Amino acid sequence: MRGANVTPFYAGDIGARGAARQRAGLPFVPMHYGQPSAGAPQAAIAAAHRALDSDPLGYTELDELRERIAAYYASAHGITIEPGRILLTAGASAALVAAYAAMFRPGDRVAMLRPGYPAYRNTLTALRLEPVEIHCGPEQAFHPTPAQIAALSPAPAGFLIASPANPTGAMLDAGQLGALLEACRARSIRVISDEIYHGISFGKRAVSALEIDPRAVVINSFSKLYRMPGWRLGWMVVPADWAAQIHAYLINMFLTPSTVAQHAALAAMDEHEDLERWVQVYARNRTRLLHGLAALGVTGIVPPDGAFYLYADIGHLTRDSMQFCLRAVDEIGVGLAPGIDFDPLEGRRFVRFSFAVTPDEIERALALLAGWLPGYRDQDPARSA
Ligand SMILES: Cc1ncc(COP(=O)(O)O)c(C=O)c1O
Repeated sequence: MRGANVTPFYAGDIGARGAARQRAGLPFVPMHYGQPSAGAPQAAIAAAHRALDSDPLGYTELDELRERIAAYYASAHGITIEPGRILLTAGASAALVAAYAAMFRPGDRVAMLRPGYPAYRNTLTALRLEPVEIHCGPEQAFHPTPAQIAALSPAPAGFLIASPANPTGAMLDAGQLGALLEACRARSIRVISDEIYHGISFGKRAVSALEIDPRAVVINSFSKLYRMPGWRLGWMVVPADWAAQIHAYLINMFLTPSTVAQHAALAAMDEHEDLERWVQVYARNRTRLLHGLAALGVTGIVPPDGAFYLYADIGHLTRDSMQFCLRAVDEIGVGLAPGIDFDPLEGRRFVRFSFAVTPDEIERALALLAGWLPGYRDQDPARSA
């Protein structure tokens, strides 16, 4: 093959071993992937059944859904978005591909944070764009600064930001996000804001880049708050004068997203109580996991403001997060994501816990870790490196 080489999601190896355990009748607590363990709201499932019974399910872009998303921006963010600026996509993943492909040309440099969601970097590489990683560690609470944007030399063509962020759950307030966007504007850097974790936060309001910069390209999805990852549906908001061209990319690369998912998503968007109930479950899981891990000696975790992840420094136990995660799944059936997925350098001493599981699963994971962590001995000869 002559395409660029991209790394897999290492958490996928953990998932495969967990699935094998389940097939063998062994327990497995799935905290490795960033997906809610609860399925879509019942009303969404009922709407999907109705669509299956009544709709021929051709290629579809539901105007009602784009209008409903526009209404969401008015109510949640106080901004008016013309529905023609909203493009429906096969998840935030397809939105990301279309944004990169349409906004940049091969060789362009695009900045993002390290640690960060692995597909940001890998998709750029696949499209022959050049990832520029901005290190943003726990010592700065995983918050990038305008000075870090100003210091990039030469200026990149784009900057991708996420708040809340994966894998850290870090969020930027309006002042922080505004200062970053201003630093980008000053250097003509185009901004993509991944707002996929909006709606899942613990006391702080998620600010949309669109509240600050109407020309920011925003991507979002039904995979997280709406608990519909396997339905493959998301959206992007783009400047009005780019909409036709980015839509042309989407249609050529993906045609339209799942029709049945669009009907379901329209119903899901009105299920405020149901959605909030699960956010409250995540909030309790977050507190329990932070305390439970601290009691096991995993301290110093920067408490996440949003999303459903803890990004934990386990440098006192290992310098090989992949080996740690492989052994956690094989020896006690706890699925964790190795930090190297998010940060190929410092990630060797971090793991990510997803707490989008049930409170029972959190308790089981903590009990299993309590019997295992104290005796953990790294088999890596480079341990003391
Ligand atoms: C930060 C971030 N962006 C984008 C995605 C892609 O999500 P999807 O394609 O399911 O919408 C994910 C998935 O985990 C993510 O964590």
